[in-house]
Amino acid sequence: MLPTNIRPFVPRGRPSIRSLPQNRSQLFRTDASKRKAPPLAFVFDIDGVLIRGPHVLPEAKKALKMLEGDNPFRTTIPYILLTNGGGVGEEERSKSLSHKLGVHIDTSQYLQAHTILKKHAQRFADEPILVLGGKRDVVRRVAESYGYKRVYTTLDVLAWNPSVWPFHQITEAEKASTKTADFEKTPISAVFVFHDPRNWALDVQTVCDLVQSGGIVGGPWVPLEKQTKPVELIFCNPDLLWRSDFPTPRIGQGAFKEAFQAVYKALTGNRYPHVQYGKPTEATYNFAKETLGAIFRERYGASSTPEHLYMVGDNPESDIAGANGARWNSVLVKTGVYDPEQGPPAHAPTRIANDVLEAVEWAIEREFSKNPKHH
Ligand code: G3P
Ligand code: MG
Repeated sequence: MLPTNIRPFVPRGRPSIRSLPQNRSQLFRTDASKRKAPPLAFVFDIDGVLIRGPHVLPEAKKALKMLEGDNPFRTTIPYILLTNGGGVGEEERSKSLSHKLGVHIDTSQYLQAHTILKKHAQRFADEPILVLGGKRDVVRRVAESYGYKRVYTTLDVLAWNPSVWPFHQITEAEKASTKTADFEKTPISAVFVFHDPRNWALDVQTVCDLVQSGGIVGGPWVPLEKQTKPVELIFCNPDLLWRSDFPTPRIGQGAFKEAFQAVYKALTGNRYPHVQYGKPTEATYNFAKETLGAIFRERYGASSTPEHLYMVGDNPESDIAGANGARWNSVLVKTGVYDPEQGPPAHAPTRIANDVLEAVEWAIEREFSKNPKHH
């Protein structure tokens, strides 16, 4: 059970939102339609900020309710969710999060680690690609929903030839998720690591086979510098650690990347060149800003963009480093990876808060008190 003795944030001389009589909050919802762009917008991390494993963090619902208009400034404040998680479709996940968090999270305000891969779908539409991560063939279907047409999994490879990795007996359920292909005649152009791989050994073996042969599983190994069309390798989440409901942080997709690179280096003496997406990368923060920009234009008119962006995260290495790099405001909460007992965070946030509610209250007060014209 997470700590509940968090001291509520009460700005000087102003009644705390929690003490407002209900009917006044009704009032807020009706004024929201005035369509005046608020001075700020939020970008929320998910794991360690809003949820931990299957559990919704206590203050998460209250914080999002505030952005729906339940605040002293009677305005709705746009926000998006930006997670390094994934492994399922955006629609499915935003629906289940809406249910959990008690507010409507539209797919347009929900970005997961691999959502940005929609941008590459055209280039690879007709190219055979390999996708890693997630349960069985779920990420294949996600990739197909983005527009990739020839999508394979490592279970497809194992079903094609079990001796690719003799130490895993494919299960009936796994076999049922596979697609038939002859990988001797199917040159893979790129490997996309969508989500945390479930079978690291099979996946490391298969990716090594592909990058050492230039795309043919079981093909002869060709030194990279002699390959005409090296396989492109794209990772979507660099997190070494993340916070679930287990007492200590868990290793993430970033650890899988290091495992692969360690084996590849042992085999070739080098690290394999790759593209990295996910927080803290610039590409992912630009994508998030684009997404919020579209929401602002839709809600408040063509030229409108968010004035002040606030990233609320639990991981200094991803959430805070990325926000600082993008010159956003950043709030580090203590409900996830970051543990104040371990000393100051590796990347200094604009502010440290006990939880997401305290972060939201602080940022709203800060921007509205700076911008009296907004209320
Ligand atoms: O696998 C997800 C994890 O790496 C972190 O997710 O929501 O904290 O960015 P999140
Ligand atoms: Mg997190």
